[in-house]
Amino acid sequence: MEIEGLFQTDIMSISGKKVCFMTGASGKLGREIALSIAGQGYSIFFTWNSSEEKAKETLEQLRWISPDSQMVQCDVSKVQDIDRAFRLFSEQFDRLDLLLASASNFFRTDLLAVTEQEWNSLVDTNLKGTFFTMQAAVRIMTRQHFLSRIITMTDVSAELVWPNFAPYTVSKAGIQHLTRIFARETAPHILVNSIAPGTVSSYPGREDEPEAGLLKKIPLQRLGDPMDIVGTVKFLMESEYITGQVINVDGGRLLF
Ligand SMILES: NC(=O)c1ccc[n+]([C@@H]2O[C@H](COP(=O)([O-])OP(=O)(O)OC[C@H]3O[C@@H](n4cnc5c(N)ncnc54)[C@H](OP(=O)(O)O)[C@@H]3O)[C@@H](O)[C@H]2O)c1
Repeated sequence: MEIEGLFQTDIMSISGKKVCFMTGASGKLGREIALSIAGQGYSIFFTWNSSEEKAKETLEQLRWISPDSQMVQCDVSKVQDIDRAFRLFSEQFDRLDLLLASASNFFRTDLLAVTEQEWNSLVDTNLKGTFFTMQAAVRIMTRQHFLSRIITMTDVSAELVWPNFAPYTVSKAGIQHLTRIFARETAPHILVNSIAPGTVSSYPGREDEPEAGLLKKIPLQRLGDPMDIVGTVKFLMESEYITGQVINVDGGRLLF
């Protein structure tokens, strides 16, 4: 059976295997995170927005590890897209163990030249999109009788003052606050935490050419490796007594 926009196998309902709903798995870091979660025995249902080819590559890699993984196109800045993605998810999977909210938009915006369109693009994707994704996930999770988890992806810049990234940094700061609100409101059934990476190298095993001066601001003197973030996701997936926290994975960047 083919549902429009949904890439699926013949398996309609998966019981007994943990399931992760992930946004932004077609991203650079997002893909590494998705592959790691699949490697821990999860089925992955993920969304992509504009990068269909990258999403197909991600799905192909995921299915080597977790054959029942699925993907669907979804613009998280539109609530109707999120509702549709969760509707399709619920038709395929009968449980939700983990929401990994990673979809994000990022670009520079000079403070005094930010347009309404730029503001909406960044804040609607990052903050509004994460909020309504969390809301939809929590509606499913609260009906279940087991511990589930939400991990949001933010950025150390949420705590720094970068004037030319105001809509982006404000959206990430907003997600960190949402993380605490949802953690308190959904306890003790759902653990809600956030990971805030510093600058992460795009290519595992290869040090990118860092922006001049950046390494001087990182006490551990290297960019983050995607595996630093993946390891933190794994840690939060195994933890049972941490909620409402933001874990900065930044080589000490915030110490400056
Ligand atoms: N990589 C880093 O150095 C770094 C540093 C700090 C924080 N982070 C955070 O870590 C997370 C993962 O980073 P990444 O490297 O994977 O980011 P990325 O490569 O920029 O990927 C962004 C992802 O978000 C999706 N996305 C963008 N706009 C969307 C929309 N309107 N609706 C739905 N999906 C949308 C993209 O999908 P399409 O491509 O299909 O549109 C893509 O999958 C992000 O939250 C990011 O802010 C990353």
